[in-house]
Amino acid sequence: MLGPDSIAVHAGREGLTAQGLHAVPLDMSTTAPLTSVEEGGLAYEQMATGGIPGPGQSTVYQRLWNPTVARFESGLATLEDAPQAVAFATGMAALTAVLLAVVAGGRPHVVAVRPLYGGSDHILATGMLGTEVTFCTPAGVHAALRPNTGLVLVETPANPDLQLVDINALVRAADGVPVLVDNTFATPVLQQPLRHGAALVLHSATKFLGGHGDAMGGVVATSAEWAVRLRQIRAVTGGLLTPWPAYLLHRGLATLPIRVRAQQEGAAKLAPGLASHELVTRVLYPGLPECDPESLVGTQMSGPGSLLSFEVASAEHAQRIAGAVKLIIHAVSLGGVDTLIQHPAGLTHRPVAAEAKPHATMLRVSVGLEDPADLIADLIQAIESTR
Ligand SMILES: Cc1ncc(COP(=O)(O)O)c(C=O)c1O
Repeated sequence: MLGPDSIAVHAGREGLTAQGLHAVPLDMSTTAPLTSVEEGGLAYEQMATGGIPGPGQSTVYQRLWNPTVARFESGLATLEDAPQAVAFATGMAALTAVLLAVVAGGRPHVVAVRPLYGGSDHILATGMLGTEVTFCTPAGVHAALRPNTGLVLVETPANPDLQLVDINALVRAADGVPVLVDNTFATPVLQQPLRHGAALVLHSATKFLGGHGDAMGGVVATSAEWAVRLRQIRAVTGGLLTPWPAYLLHRGLATLPIRVRAQQEGAAKLAPGLASHELVTRVLYPGLPECDPESLVGTQMSGPGSLLSFEVASAEHAQRIAGAVKLIIHAVSLGGVDTLIQHPAGLTHRPVAAEAKPHATMLRVSVGLEDPADLIADLIQAIESTR
């Protein structure tokens, strides 16, 4: 059994040497040659119903199958210790496919633990895909279940307040209803939710998996049964990951463990630096004992990660800080090599209902690979120059 760093480098690269290749081939074909109408038709039917092409079989059309995408899926599935993975155009396309599968399964009620990424909260709150939702705390999950509950959804660490949720306990509370864990913030380097009983793991691959802020994607790691349903929905709705971003996302997996660890080291230095500043009223970071009351870092998660949020005395001050950083970039998104700061209440969580919106005094920082001392100096000059 290989260690996780070796898996990250080699997963999804099977068979390259036999083909005389070193790098993963980028197959941009939108269509594939057919040997006959009958064989092509059978392959089409197989893939349009969620199956995968057999050896030598035509892949027919890129919306049904692409080998570059399949290699990324295989790499991510291996890292998550999942039987399979299905990749989509974005994280939201991945969530959409899961929700459509839940609706098609006849149990459209979703129990969702808040906070969630603003887009995920929004898609559930509007019910635009035919789901019904009960938002709750982790402790409220069991009471929120109904006979028609088809999914329990949680983020841990959560966007944007970094709340940690005990996945084992949540799975017990869900009482057999499939649990989806959005693992975007932790990545499989720090946390593998399927090992704790989750049925589905979702990533915005746009974030840490790619890691360089230049490729969008989403992916769900899960059982073979769920993967069939998700591929079928992908084939029908067309929210597919295309080959070029798949190539970049797969390349990102190779450096994922070293990036995650190095970014985490930076965040672990930033968090106490911010917490001790007189103008910072609160720091939210899983590495601070007060943010991890159940000691999930070290058990469920192997480390606290590289996202942190902090609060200052007023919303106006928070907004001015975001505009005053010089090295750090004021931008949404996260998980890349450069440090980003953003104001969740005003941006990523803008569509969230007032009662669940993050504090307007909060800023979220995604720590990148810069020297931590430079990041602390930049944040402090931004905090002090705008007081
Ligand atoms: C935790 C989390 N899940 C899902 C998404 C949606 O992903 P995408 O932007 O790739 O659609 C995001 C985006 O910020 C996110 O932060």
